[in-house]
Amino acid sequence: MKIFDLVINQEAIDRLRNAVSSKDTVQGYTHNFYRYPARFSPKFVREVIQIFSKPGDVVLDPFVGGGTSLVEAIANNRHSIGFDVSPIASFVSKVKTTILTETEVKEILEWSVPVLSKRLVGYKPKMTYYDDEGYLNNLPWRIKASIEIILNEINSLSSVKAQSFVKCVVLRTAQWAIDCREKIPTATAFRKMFHQNLLAFSKGLKNLEGAITKGSNKKAPKCFSINMSSELLMNCAEIKHLPAKPKLIITSPPYVGVHMLYHQWQVNSRKRTRTPFWIIDSLDGMGSGHYTFGHYRVHGRKKYFDIAEKVFNSIHAAIDDDAIIVQLVGFSDHKKFLPKYLEMMDNAGYQEIPLLLDSLGRIRRIWRDVPNRRWYVKSKSEISSSKEVLIVHQKK
Ligand SMILES: C[S@@+](CC[C@H](N)C(=O)[O-])C[C@H]1O[C@@H](n2cnc3c(N)ncnc32)[C@H](O)[C@@H]1O
Repeated sequence: MKIFDLVINQEAIDRLRNAVSSKDTVQGYTHNFYRYPARFSPKFVREVIQIFSKPGDVVLDPFVGGGTSLVEAIANNRHSIGFDVSPIASFVSKVKTTILTETEVKEILEWSVPVLSKRLVGYKPKMTYYDDEGYLNNLPWRIKASIEIILNEINSLSSVKAQSFVKCVVLRTAQWAIDCREKIPTATAFRKMFHQNLLAFSKGLKNLEGAITKGSNKKAPKCFSINMSSELLMNCAEIKHLPAKPKLIITSPPYVGVHMLYHQWQVNSRKRTRTPFWIIDSLDGMGSGHYTFGHYRVHGRKKYFDIAEKVFNSIHAAIDDDAIIVQLVGFSDHKKFLPKYLEMMDNAGYQEIPLLLDSLGRIRRIWRDVPNRRWYVKSKSEISSSKEVLIVHQKK
């Protein structure tokens, strides 16, 4: 068994405790490019990166979601790599960590003027593959037309980077207009918000660039966002091309036993849409269980823990022998599921590092309650909040 070389002092524990329970609104850099469900607070990620790694190290997030960990890693001069089965997650994470030149920003702003003055009246949205396959179900006509008019013009932008950036602005504006809203905004309000987001996102990227150039004395840190299951990450070419093996893994895996919709938006009350896939020109996986290690109602059975063990085995093979794995894990029923989760980590070759011990030498952990505000928690059979716990591991 390995002797821990990790020394964590009281000040660091206090910083972690504050960061876990922080209710600060998500802001800064490119963090607001998309509201990813169950996203990390940037403050939490920043503290973990600063406490458990040093500049030049490689940070890995195998369930990258909206890319919070990648953004904070590069802002703090660490190389980083993130994986996710969801193309929405990988797309957003990539755009959030891709700096644009001043010329590209200028081109985008000039391009937007004629595009945003195109008339909606008389516009006939086209039937596309996405319509036929039901991806645009429940999407109001005026929002569909507003989005399509912009998407139709994107290819005239001269770089793929600029095109992806604008797609991300469309994605965020459409999410604002549709997801969890009682009242859908007008087309004029949509365009106004699109324009505001263009300006705010450009500023966010500029601030991120400022942090990167301030922190690095030579080259900008490397950053990859890969759309692939983390079960396969040890075979991924990009992970082999990083300057070193990952030293810090910071992640939040799919919550155990909790209903979470990562890939659809909720329109009005109970309807859903897969519109985000249309906007980023990508396809959905195989139902909601694809993004959550199986359907949440059967997580208590073996499937969740079987998949988790395979993923953590793959991570084990790819990371540095002294790497630290910091996770914020959510549970519907922590008494039932935390022991199973720890057993899964043990089977995959890791041992827990106790951050806190009580007077009897038992491990105490840092917890927080997370309210779930989505419509489905209003139904009686759903749990209206989950608990998240901070756990830290090393290889055995
Ligand atoms: C709790 S979310 C992560 C949120 C993230 N920490 C953030 O700040 O946005 C969990 C993510 O795991 C992804 N996921 C589920 N199964 C996966 C797998 N086998 N490999 C990689 N990612 C997976 C889901 O698509 C989802 O985006």
